[in-house]
Amino acid sequence: MFIANKINLRIPGPTPIPPAVQAAMNKPMIGHRSKEASTLISEVSERLKPFFGTNESPLLFSGSGTSVLEAAVVNTVQPEEEVLVVVTGVFGDRFAKILTEYGATVRRYDVDWGKTPDPDALKKILQQHPNIKAVFFTQCETSTGVLNPIDKLSPIVKEFSNALIIVDAVSSLGAVPFEMNDWNVDITVAGSQKALMIPAGLAFAAVSQNAWNVIEQNKNPKFYLDFKRYRDNLLKGTTPFTPAVSLLFGLQAALELLEEEGLAQVFNRHEIMKQMTRSALRALSLPLMTNDTDASPTVTSVYQADGWDSEAVRSDLKKMGIVIAGGQQHLKGKIFRIGHMGYCDPLDILPVLSAIEISLKKQNVSLSLGTALQAAEEVLSNHV
Ligand SMILES: Cc1ncc(COP(=O)(O)O)c(C=O)c1O
Repeated sequence: MFIANKINLRIPGPTPIPPAVQAAMNKPMIGHRSKEASTLISEVSERLKPFFGTNESPLLFSGSGTSVLEAAVVNTVQPEEEVLVVVTGVFGDRFAKILTEYGATVRRYDVDWGKTPDPDALKKILQQHPNIKAVFFTQCETSTGVLNPIDKLSPIVKEFSNALIIVDAVSSLGAVPFEMNDWNVDITVAGSQKALMIPAGLAFAAVSQNAWNVIEQNKNPKFYLDFKRYRDNLLKGTTPFTPAVSLLFGLQAALELLEEEGLAQVFNRHEIMKQMTRSALRALSLPLMTNDTDASPTVTSVYQADGWDSEAVRSDLKKMGIVIAGGQQHLKGKIFRIGHMGYCDPLDILPVLSAIEISLKKQNVSLSLGTALQAAEEVLSNHV
C-alpha cells in the first residue's frame, strides 16, 4: 500500500460506502421509539419495494445476511419436511446447512460451481419428489460469480410443485433486476453490505401472501427471527427489537443516491462494469469461471492458470492498495474474485485491471501492459 489506509476495496462485499451515506450514519442518535424513528422505518421499507419488485413491505432486521437466510428457514420449514436446495456454491450450501440444522429433509441439486442449474434437471427432481415444500435458490452466487436466472427457474417450480420459492439476493439486490411479484418468488432475503452501499448489519426479507399462509401455520420455536413480530411491528412503524438506527440513516441516504441515479441506470452501470471486466480479462487470456450468459454483474471470478499464482496476484494488488477476494472452500488458492457492485463506477475498474496486468507481468506472464485496459476502455467507450 503506497498510502497507509488508502484502500481500493474491490471484494464482493462489504463494499465502499459513499460519503453521503457515511455522513448520514454520523447523525446524532434519536430515540428508537420516537416519531422520527417510526417515519424512518416506514419510509425505508416503502422505498425498498421497487428493489424487490413487490408491493409487500420488506421486513427490516438488525443482523448480517445469514440472519435472514436462517429466518427464511425457521419461519417456513418444519422438522422432517422435504425441501430442495439448488446449490451453486458456498451460499446455496449455507442454506442447505441451515436447513439440516433445523431438521429438514434436505434434497440438494448440486450444480458444478461456476455454472447455473439445468432447467430439465430441476424439473425432474421436482417430479420425482412431489412432497417438496420449499425450493431455495441463490440469485448471485458470490463464491463463483454466477447469476442464477430466477425468472426462468421459478416458473418450473410453480408448474411442477406447490413449493414456496425462497431466494437469497444478498449479493445482487440493488445491482440487478429482481421482480418478486412477476417471478412468483415467495420470500426474498438481502443484506446491506453489498450493492446497497451500507455497512454490514441490516438484513431484509420480503414475504409474499402465499408465504404468509405457510408462516401462519408454522410451529417452530423462534423469537428474534420471528417474521410475524417484524410484520406486526412494521405496520406500526417500528421493529420488535432495537433497530440499528445509524444504519437506517445510512440506508435512507443510499436509497436517495440509487433513486437519483434511477434503477435502470444502476442496473446498466453494473452491466457495463461486468462487460469491461470480462473483456479485459479475456484480452489477457485469463480463464473466466462463468460464461457470458451466466455471469453476474456484481462479481467476476477468474481461475488460476499455469504460469501464475492467484494468491500472488492478490498480494501484489494489496501492495498497490487494491483489495480483491480469493476463493472459498475448495476454490481457496485456485481463483480470484473482483467485486464490482455498489459504490463503484466503470472507471473504478481500470486501476484493478491495471494492477492485475502488472502482477502477471511480474510473474513472467507474457503480455503487453495496457492490453486489459484497452479492452475495458473499448467497452466503456460504447457507453459514454
Ligand atoms: C449470496 C450471499 N448470501 C449470504 C451471505 C451471507 O451474508 P453475511 O456474511 O452478511 O451473513 C453472503 C455474504 O457474502 C452472500 O454473498
